[in-house]
Amino acid sequence: MSGYTTLGEFVIDRQTDFQYATGELSRLLSAIRLAAKIVNREVNKAGLVDILGETGVENIQGETQQKLDVFADEIFLEAIRVRGDVCGIGSEEQDEYIAFENERSKQGKYILLIDPLDGSSNIDVNVSIGTIFSIYRRVSPYGTKATKEDFLQEGRKQVAAGYVIYGSSTMLVFATGNGVNGFTYDPSIGVFYLSHPDMKIPEDGQVYSINEGNYVHFPDGVKKYIKYCQDEDEATNRPYTSRYIGSLVADFHRNLIKGGIYIYPTSKKAPNGKLRLLYECNPMAYLIEQAGGIATDGKNNILDIKPTDLHQRTPLFIGSKKMVEKAHHFVKEFGG
Ligand code: AHG
Ligand code: MN
Ligand code: MN
Repeated sequence: MSGYTTLGEFVIDRQTDFQYATGELSRLLSAIRLAAKIVNREVNKAGLVDILGETGVENIQGETQQKLDVFADEIFLEAIRVRGDVCGIGSEEQDEYIAFENERSKQGKYILLIDPLDGSSNIDVNVSIGTIFSIYRRVSPYGTKATKEDFLQEGRKQVAAGYVIYGSSTMLVFATGNGVNGFTYDPSIGVFYLSHPDMKIPEDGQVYSINEGNYVHFPDGVKKYIKYCQDEDEATNRPYTSRYIGSLVADFHRNLIKGGIYIYPTSKKAPNGKLRLLYECNPMAYLIEQAGGIATDGKNNILDIKPTDLHQRTPLFIGSKKMVEKAHHFVKEFGG
């Protein structure tokens, strides 16, 4: 098997790249990897839930079938909690952050923020979904319970971030400060292999991703940028291609590989945008910067925003550097 690097081997080899090389991050990533495998198994048979539920095959204890995003939340929470390296978790599925009470977890040096299942409206229609995670060093003293300040740190302070995409194949993509690496899952043996080393987003691209159904509600700068993408111009290869899956993870993953821009702007319906800063935008912004792209709220770098609330929303412009800069130009001139 020489020549193939597994995720486990990669993490051990690269442990010293991580600024706090003490082994805890390796354990944490290993917990995320395990939870991803369990969620992947359930996602793969999502269409069978009703059938298996009715026959009782899956549900011998008589428990009602859970929605997959609640299931994913519980799996990640439990996998992380039992390792004891994390003192608290903030999740899209939990109103408040969870500060673990046990002594071992209180010694944990990290906090985790997570969107356990991203794009969950796509589950029923067999379209790619994902998990997004973000890891910080705590700011409160070791040995105490996690505090709000541990969770409300600027994105730039992340020490690791990543996502899992449950797509035509399942991949885990993450960064710990030294570039972005992608691992593809081989379900026959339950192993993630390094398939996309040192991922870089093309500096320019020809794909724009935005929910154009909301066009009438968008600010003028965004409307003008969309029209720019649709204009004919041979020199810049326009019109561009429009691609919007409705799963941030899947739209981001495609643009990371092929080049492109993803925009979730402010609108009359959603004055702060829709996406959440702490467990959707920050981890994606951390990844895109390390892959050579940029992420902003239309003006400011996402990673410099000082969070005030666990579930706060922000507009997001993310992707190939030149495309995001061009979108900024329109926002600046016409408003966004
Ligand atoms: P989640 O499933 O975690 O709530 O996230 C859904 C998000 C994101 O994945 C996606 O890009 C966006 O919502 C789509 O929103 P619209 O349907 O408004 O375009
Ligand atoms: Mn989401
Ligand atoms: Mn979600």
